[in-house]
Amino acid sequence: MKIAVIGAGYVGLVTAACLTEMGNRVVCVDAAAQKVAALKRGEMPIYEPGLEDIVVSALNAGLLDFTTSLESAVASADYVFIAVGTPMQDDGRCDTSAVLSVARALGQSLTDDAIVITKSTVPVGTGDQVESIIQERLRLRNAAFKVDVVSNPEFLKEGAAVADFMTPDRIIVGSDSQHAREMMGVLYAPYLRRNDRILYMGRREAEMTKYASNAMLAARISFMNEIAELCEHCDVDVEDVRLGMGADKRIGNAFLFPGAGYGGSCLPKDVRALIATGEDRALDMCILKSVDERNQAQKRVMFDKLYRYFDGQLEGKAIAVWGLAFKPGTDDIREAPALNLIEKLVEAGARIVAYDPVAMANTRRYFAKFPYAARVRFVDEPNAAVVGADALVVVTEWKRFRQPDFRSLKLAMRGRLIVDGRNLYHSGHLSRIGFDYRGVGRDNKGLNPPHRDRITT
Ligand code: UDX
Repeated sequence: MKIAVIGAGYVGLVTAACLTEMGNRVVCVDAAAQKVAALKRGEMPIYEPGLEDIVVSALNAGLLDFTTSLESAVASADYVFIAVGTPMQDDGRCDTSAVLSVARALGQSLTDDAIVITKSTVPVGTGDQVESIIQERLRLRNAAFKVDVVSNPEFLKEGAAVADFMTPDRIIVGSDSQHAREMMGVLYAPYLRRNDRILYMGRREAEMTKYASNAMLAARISFMNEIAELCEHCDVDVEDVRLGMGADKRIGNAFLFPGAGYGGSCLPKDVRALIATGEDRALDMCILKSVDERNQAQKRVMFDKLYRYFDGQLEGKAIAVWGLAFKPGTDDIREAPALNLIEKLVEAGARIVAYDPVAMANTRRYFAKFPYAARVRFVDEPNAAVVGADALVVVTEWKRFRQPDFRSLKLAMRGRLIVDGRNLYHSGHLSRIGFDYRGVGRDNKGLNPPHRDRITT
């Protein structure tokens, strides 16, 4: 099969690479010439486990190519994936301008029958717009071929994107066209042991499914963060509550982990876009608004714990921060809780020494524009970050933070406070060996066992 993927961002690049795994020939298009040149050399613009190997071997096998020319890429493609960015606008609405401009370019450039597939996350009705833009242009060109427009939202998680694409929970195909449904079934069949994992529905239903799924995940997290706060006030350990709740099959264990708040390029943006979709129809999306508000408040929780512990005297304090990425397995810092934490701490006069296995370059670039950039230092080792620190804050649950040598940590630190933003540690053990432990939604009694079975990572 010949496939064009428009957009070499997270979704586009993973889609292009993983499609070559089954022998498809894929051309991936991006407007950024430098990025395309680097990708042609097998250099990745993002950190995603397993991706580089697939890209390099597909390049070597001649199955994958990168180009800036949409026209040449789509000329003989059976399938064209639209995977360009749909960023959030200032008012929370989704900016679909890049998707619509690709639709215009496709209307001019397609030369034969094709299935156009929207993978970018787009508000309900965008697929209809894409279709009318393309059809309008084909009419003007008196084109004698057929183009179907399908919504096929992407559900991959950063850090596990390749595995998610290769063995998906479900594939949503939104189209009323029998021909398009069949073509999509053929394309995805090798990724499914049974075809019952493909769900066919209307295009608008597919678009809504993507948003509603991410909003549900966000809601679970915000719900647990709220329960965690209540637990702190009731002398209850939320980790036991989480396990007790998750044991109910109807509830399940996933996405019940309280913590420093959800970040990333999807959950915060998609919740706000769905609120805006409701507002455009004069609906008050009160649950989703609360989910978003709770998350914004949650990103302040770690700072508040430090502030209270030091009685507001953060001036001159040295704070070690472990973890900068919005979650483990990625160098992505978009909407990462660590950024809010560091900003607030520095504003309060603290000095930061930070470590992350892969996200330090991005974070350094992010803070370079701030006048106080010099107060944020980066080190190559987690242990180097804690030397002389008044407190350690764990913000991202990378595996290598899970079992530190607490004795040497204690010797290296000046203070005794550990703020565990992901509830990684055994609170009682830490207290017994002399740390002042603060988790999220748990007291200090130490009756709970350690919980290392994070389901999301
Ligand atoms: C999400 C969706 O999971 C994925 O299906 C969609 O395609 C894109 O958006 P992603 O943003 O990569 O994926 O990360 P995810 O694993 O969902 O985590 C999002 C955030 O929620 C992270 O900041 C994570 O730390 C936080 N989280 C997750 C929690 O705080 N608690 C949890 O229980 C789970």
